[in-house]
Amino acid sequence: MSKAKKPGKRAKRKAAALPPGGGFVVVANLKGGSGKSTIAFNLAAWLARHGARPALVDLDPQKTLTDLVAVRREMEIAPDLPIPSDRLDEVPARTGAWTVVDVGAADRDGMAAAIARADLVLVPVLPGQADVWATERHLEAVDGGRPDHCAVRMVLNRADPGEVGRETREALAALTLLARMRRSTALLPTSLTRRVAFCRSLSEGRAVFELDAASKASAEFEALAGAILSDRAVFPPMSPRAEAS
Ligand SMILES: Nc1ncnc2c1ncn2[C@@H]1O[C@H](COP(=O)(O)OP(=O)(O)O)[C@@H](O)[C@H]1O
Ligand SMILES: [Mg+2]
Repeated sequence: MSKAKKPGKRAKRKAAALPPGGGFVVVANLKGGSGKSTIAFNLAAWLARHGARPALVDLDPQKTLTDLVAVRREMEIAPDLPIPSDRLDEVPARTGAWTVVDVGAADRDGMAAAIARADLVLVPVLPGQADVWATERHLEAVDGGRPDHCAVRMVLNRADPGEVGRETREALAALTLLARMRRSTALLPTSLTRRVAFCRSLSEGRAVFELDAASKASAEFEALAGAILSDRAVFPPMSPRAEAS
């Protein structure tokens, strides 16, 4: 618990790095189990820790994000997160505001509607050929339905920690190729690896950096959040989202 203060100091330093225009972030893939809720939840907690008050939308009938927020509120974990809405139209469009949407294949209409409003579509992908194929289909749909300015960023999740095995290597190569085929799309330079802390995060309603700020999982998520939010193609430093295209 004595570690709890350290992130506060870091939060102060990093607060200035939050893009001023805010952003409508949709975490989506057709594949279940790819880490959408894990990333949506940790990103929401990361934004909150850095002074934002993100609106949350949970369009997955499994309601993982909603359950996590409920656990968090019950345990009085700070900073608190708002109860996710299950309706997109309840989220007002406001410059400077943050929205995180968790959506999967179970709500294809919801996914399309969310993508139509997105500034960033974040696509978690597991290593594996079937996951790469599903992602290719997903990217086609995303590219057809996104606004012009919207960027699409894939992130490899549950990659091998330590020595990188064949599945992870092949997935990275395949996703790099997929990204080359679309102007809007890139593979983020940082991956999340297979770590127990990401499972615990979903069990405890705490982000990995809240469980242990010094953990490898925490460092990985910090790097991921940093890569997303410092991506000038996604979040231009000074201009509001509407000017991004
Ligand atoms: N990087 C990771 N390392 C270990 N387990 C992970 C990781 N990412 C996700 N998980 C676990 O995988 C399962 C599926 O993740 P989840 O975020 O619920 O996927 P989705 O929302 O896409 O269905 C959960 O049990 C979660 O704890
Ligand atoms: Mg989920």
